[in-house]
Amino acid sequence: EQHLRSQQSLRGEKIVVTAGGTLEPIDPVRFIGNRSSGKMGIAIAQAAAEAGADVTLIYGHVTCDLPDNRKIKLIHASQAEQMASSVKEAFRKSNCLIMAAAVADWQSAKVADHKLKKQLGQTELNLKLVRTPDILATTAADKRSDQLVIGFAAETNDLLKNAQVKLQKKGADYIIANDVSKDVFGSDQDQVTVISRQGQDRWPRLSKSEIAQKIIALVARELEKRHD
Ligand code: CTP
Ligand code: CA
Repeated sequence: EQHLRSQQSLRGEKIVVTAGGTLEPIDPVRFIGNRSSGKMGIAIAQAAAEAGADVTLIYGHVTCDLPDNRKIKLIHASQAEQMASSVKEAFRKSNCLIMAAAVADWQSAKVADHKLKKQLGQTELNLKLVRTPDILATTAADKRSDQLVIGFAAETNDLLKNAQVKLQKKGADYIIANDVSKDVFGSDQDQVTVISRQGQDRWPRLSKSEIAQKIIALVARELEKRHD
């Protein structure tokens, strides 16, 4: 009975999860991308669905299989701007957002409608990039008090200091900090530290599916408090 109940800790909840990397086009055949595999976000979506939640998984470029689960609605968003509008729409009707996607910070100022050609003797190309919308920050800024917003922080140095700054700047309830300088992209494991206004909690190196289950347990506890 205990087992059944704990499995259904998110029954009736609506959770939005993002996964994978966005690809920002330069011209019809080229883009700027990143090394995200989508594994962490997909594991979180699976864990949420197994806990009984209705999940909307908004995914960019992923290098692993997408989940096949009737509790998970799949929405593709290849660029940051599309992901921003999909998240905005889905989050309105939801209790929680978990931003595991690696959203590009920059997009091409101008996307060419034809393939860019090299000119004779050309040795340099300058690309002008402009900022993408910060999905986590804008969502956290207008969330309702019953809604929970969780972000990630990918850092290669000064992990906890940078992640603490992100918690403040983004206005998220939690930041899951991970060190991406070694062996994270595409890996099945990760070592994270969970940061909130209450403090920091360092988790051991675990499989991404174990991390996902622990994040979902945290979400269940937080949403429980909000429903009181
Ligand atoms: N994020 C977002 N929209 C963006 C960029 C990032 O929603 N345009 C989210 C990511 O999904 C993640 C969190 O913000 O949950 C932190 O992403 P990260 O790349 O670690 O931090 P940035 O704020 O982009 O700062 P920087 O890359 O300069 O360290
Ligand atoms: Ca970034």
